[in-house]
Amino acid sequence: MISKTTIDQVFDAARVEEVIGDFVQLKKSGSNFKGLSPFTDERTPSFMVSPVKQIWKDFSSGKGGNVVAFLMEHEHFTYPEAIKYLARKYGIEVEETQRTEEELEEASEKESMYLVSDYARGYFEDCLWKSEMGKAIGLTYFKERGFSAETIKKFGLGYNPDQWDAFTKTALGNGYQLEYLEKTGLTIVKEGQEPGTKRMFDRFKGRVMFPIHSMSGRILGFGGRILGNDRKAAKYLNSPESEIYHKGRVLYGIYFAKQAIAREDTCYLVEGYTDVIQLSQRGIENVVASSGTALTPEQIRLVNRLTKNITVLFDGDAAGERASLRGIDLILEQGMNVRVCTFPPGEDPDSFAKANDTGTIKAYLRENAMDFIQYKTSLLSKHAAHDPIKKAETVRDIVQSISRIPDRIKREIYVQECAGMMGISEAVLFNTLAQISKKHQGEAGRQKPPLQKAFDVVKGEQPLSTADIQYGLERKIIEMLLLYGKEEEAFEDLILKENEDGNLVLEPEQVEARVYEKIYLDLQEDEIELSHEQFRNIYYRLIAEMNEKEDFSVNGFLSLLDQDTVAEISSILMEEEKYELHHWERKDIYPKEKSNTVAQLVSETILTLRCFLIKKRIEALKKETEDSQEDHTETLEEIMNYLQLNKLLNKKLNRVLS
Ligand code: CTP
Ligand code: MN
Repeated sequence: MISKTTIDQVFDAARVEEVIGDFVQLKKSGSNFKGLSPFTDERTPSFMVSPVKQIWKDFSSGKGGNVVAFLMEHEHFTYPEAIKYLARKYGIEVEETQRTEEELEEASEKESMYLVSDYARGYFEDCLWKSEMGKAIGLTYFKERGFSAETIKKFGLGYNPDQWDAFTKTALGNGYQLEYLEKTGLTIVKEGQEPGTKRMFDRFKGRVMFPIHSMSGRILGFGGRILGNDRKAAKYLNSPESEIYHKGRVLYGIYFAKQAIAREDTCYLVEGYTDVIQLSQRGIENVVASSGTALTPEQIRLVNRLTKNITVLFDGDAAGERASLRGIDLILEQGMNVRVCTFPPGEDPDSFAKANDTGTIKAYLRENAMDFIQYKTSLLSKHAAHDPIKKAETVRDIVQSISRIPDRIKREIYVQECAGMMGISEAVLFNTLAQISKKHQGEAGRQKPPLQKAFDVVKGEQPLSTADIQYGLERKIIEMLLLYGKEEEAFEDLILKENEDGNLVLEPEQVEARVYEKIYLDLQEDEIELSHEQFRNIYYRLIAEMNEKEDFSVNGFLSLLDQDTVAEISSILMEEEKYELHHWERKDIYPKEKSNTVAQLVSETILTLRCFLIKKRIEALKKETEDSQEDHTETLEEIMNYLQLNKLLNKKLNRVLS
């Protein structure tokens, strides 16, 4: 764990505009910076960075947050990775909270394995580019496969000399320990002839090397291919499973593809190393490979962080067909959309990409990618067009795939499509679906469907619904808390007082208070709770933090929250810039232009919200009396009370507004 002190130091030092400036070209625009969204393909800038608020907002994708959220979105770092990146950038020493001895040992063991692996990558690359054999054999091989020098360098391809222990000897000579060479599988160690002696061999002797990168670019392992096709040895050898290399959790190429996957909002999934490299060289960079292992849920989740759409590109042969069929259900289960594109017999993505130019490949992918129902149907017509039993099996098979989809609406849409394509009534399919679903429910390990977002605002030209108004007001409350919460202001309140004639009248009185106190106490008075869960959570946390911390800062607050909440808050704080950006008319939620003083603005918003909620309550009570035949005396009394309160609040509001 990174210590809290380090995290605080990082947040203090990091300037969001500097960090983002390394990735996006930013231009000053008023007090903000503007740039082209790095998450979409846009031509007019709608990406805003606020140095004052230390947040960013991308209005074309809706994403936003603080500096860490940017690195997590853009570089796909985990939270600790982002903190470490910033620490490096700003020269801050990362302090890890104490770990047990065991953890330390494990961490340093893994670290050593990473170091050895990176050393090996460098060594193999040197051999490829600089040694005579490397150039004559390795480089020639890659060139024959159509890889350019640039591509070979980008993917860090290399060559392991054709000698028993050339690599191992050099590594040992450079101070790397045999223990880690063995643990990473780069070196194979065997008992020697004499008892107590050891013999060492390079695992990848005489092979061309494909380093396997993690999402953040570390070397986890290698694939090594023999040269030529005619030998009896396995075509590819891969690093064995180890503490740093877990086949099922890695996708080859993801480090080079992640940005393109997010940008294109699609990921192509292929089988082999060379498929990735060849497509990438042709400019189709959003491509990763499962590297010959059966696809796993962990691998799909890696992609899920980047896009919801996967297109499976497998060979047209039987093995490719089987692999793609297995993959489909797994992808659907993760709530992702899957398409399949097959290649002409005898072709795989590598050979197809080698033989065609970028335009042709893109057109082919566009025209031949089918959704999984079309794909399964096409297999049927290929194998057994007129066999009713086969057809029934296919239908069942499709429905069984549909049953894997967590989202109900999507399931329905696919049932309709399947009914149309197979000429079967929807009713029968829904029936089958229900049967299969029931069976699944019995099975263990079913995942819960993803949570629905707490709310969704629809912005448009339609008149605002009450839900929209309430949403706007609650959001405004949060905005004011964030912007002015700790400020001390003079509020004017109307207090009921007895005058000289003994009548009760409302009299103005000045009250000094912190904005957050005023908001909290006023809302508490009518026992109002914000109705939107996310706002409510932010609200209580903000009040608690402001109450506790004299030196409250929005940035410190953001560093405590999860990324979803940070994104939500950032978009609240950026609201004004958005209107500026799109020249949108402000929605007419508030009776007046932004008030002159903070105190006025706060009072106005709270009163408007209170009036609004009371009106809502009154309406609900009225409806109650209409709907039931029982005695309404109590309800009517309650209504009267609320009407009175409403009158009072309206008076206050008028005063604030006048
Ligand atoms: N593979 C493997 N071990 C093998 C064969 C294949 O690990 N003995 C993995 C490799 O990751 C390979 C992928 O499965 O990239 C796909 O295998 P295949 O289609 O046979 O290889 P290609 O990528 O087509 O290899 P090449 O074009 O180099 O012949
Ligand atoms: Mn191939």
